[in-house]
Amino acid sequence: MKNIDPCVLVIFGANGNLSRIKLIPALFRLEVAGRLSDSMTILGCGLESWKDERWISEVTDILKAKFPDGMDEQAFERFCTRLHYHPNPPGNSDAYAKLKQVLEETPGFAPNVVFYMAVRPSEFPAIIDRLGTLGLLNQQRGWCRVVIEKPFGYDLLSAQTLQGSLYRHLNEPQIYRIDHYLGKGTVQNVIVFRFANILLEPIWNNHYIDHVQITHSETLGIEGRADYYESAGALRDMIQSHLLQLLALVAMEPPVTLSAEHLRDEKVKVLKAIRPITQNSVHAHAFRGQYTSGTINGKPVPGYLDEPGVTPDSATETYAALKLFIDNWRWAGVPFYLRTGKRMAENSSAICIRFKKPPQDLLRHTHHHEASHPNWIMLGIQPNDSLKIEMQVKVPGLDLTTRTISLDATYRKGTEQEHDAYEGLLLDVMLGDHSLFLRIDEVEWAWRTVDPIIKVWAMERDFINGYQAGSWGPRGTYRLFDNDDQFWRHSLNPEGADLQAY
Ligand code: BG6
Repeated sequence: MKNIDPCVLVIFGANGNLSRIKLIPALFRLEVAGRLSDSMTILGCGLESWKDERWISEVTDILKAKFPDGMDEQAFERFCTRLHYHPNPPGNSDAYAKLKQVLEETPGFAPNVVFYMAVRPSEFPAIIDRLGTLGLLNQQRGWCRVVIEKPFGYDLLSAQTLQGSLYRHLNEPQIYRIDHYLGKGTVQNVIVFRFANILLEPIWNNHYIDHVQITHSETLGIEGRADYYESAGALRDMIQSHLLQLLALVAMEPPVTLSAEHLRDEKVKVLKAIRPITQNSVHAHAFRGQYTSGTINGKPVPGYLDEPGVTPDSATETYAALKLFIDNWRWAGVPFYLRTGKRMAENSSAICIRFKKPPQDLLRHTHHHEASHPNWIMLGIQPNDSLKIEMQVKVPGLDLTTRTISLDATYRKGTEQEHDAYEGLLLDVMLGDHSLFLRIDEVEWAWRTVDPIIKVWAMERDFINGYQAGSWGPRGTYRLFDNDDQFWRHSLNPEGADLQAY
């Protein structure tokens, strides 16, 4: 275990959703696991004019709600001693100067600082500018790191503009651009699965792989986030970031080492090799939809247009599917199908890799033989992490009949638990490890991939396909598939292999 330098973690947006739902519970779990340095402190920074006591009581409520079965009392007491609060109300021009004073003069505060931007993206540049102008980012007292949440811009140009404003005060090594998918243990398992097992390498290419599907579906709607989601949509919210990262991990060449730069060099090469989608070909490569009212888990739910804060004629997509090609030797001709949607039938994130059929169907003359089933490798990311390989075997008996079996290589043993993505990522920031954070060129190439689609969809605002909440998405997405025998794989169970989606 590496030693972590003591630091002050300043959370801008301390009372916001991200902080309450992800950051505070993740920090507490790190406390329980004994992974926080003894003299590390957490300074919540928010609009409310609270004192430390009020912040501690808010955090207590968050943790009690998160861990209703009780908490490690000693860890909880230790955690509370780390908590401080600094009010940063809008329009208070002194607030940043006071923050500087707090950081530099509070006894027990370490000179190293992490600034975590858990605020709206539009607020990043102004906050960085204030901190930079006051000399709080110049690393003269200790190191200083800034964590930027996604989305990083809303297209290529805005991402470059945001980058320009960060570079006025920060160097690249100080910047940690989060894509929390990279913090998920199952996502990191893609690297282990591919590069710690030699038997996959010979078949991991266009000679053997028919196509790759990457899915993130969720039953939740926009959960009161209309102000963000209306200007984002599914393409920016999920595909530009999380799903393209998954694609890069599946498709990249083995890096020289697993160091941050080597890993990111290989991911960038994949993103660069994605065949550009011209504006004329957007309809052949992309499909969007918006949920209408329906039923989720037996309960009626409203359509997107009836969600609070959504404009009545909004054409924002809550479902997006893409077909991409990676023009390099390994992947030429292999379609990568990506899809994501809110208010879908199930919560499911998975990478499904379909292999080609054997060159000859030798069993075709035998009795009871159905058309041959191809092999699949499936990596379930959530809700359950799993690794499955589907193969054909003979059914016991006198006839030569086949059936599909699933080799289930679930790798979790006994009580082993996966950690929340934010735990590992917060630890990495404090350790100074960039491997699971995005470099600016990754972000730029991901925007280059989706920008033409964004442009066309922004112009075509008169019509958007609907899909019923609780379904698997809009009808018509099948037209993205290159062949009749390709279809969305909804379930990772063998019987699900034949479930055709429309
Ligand atoms: C976020 C998106 O980045 O990822 C959300 O903004 C989405 O819209 C979420 O729901 C999904 O993350 P997870 O970890 O729940 O799969």
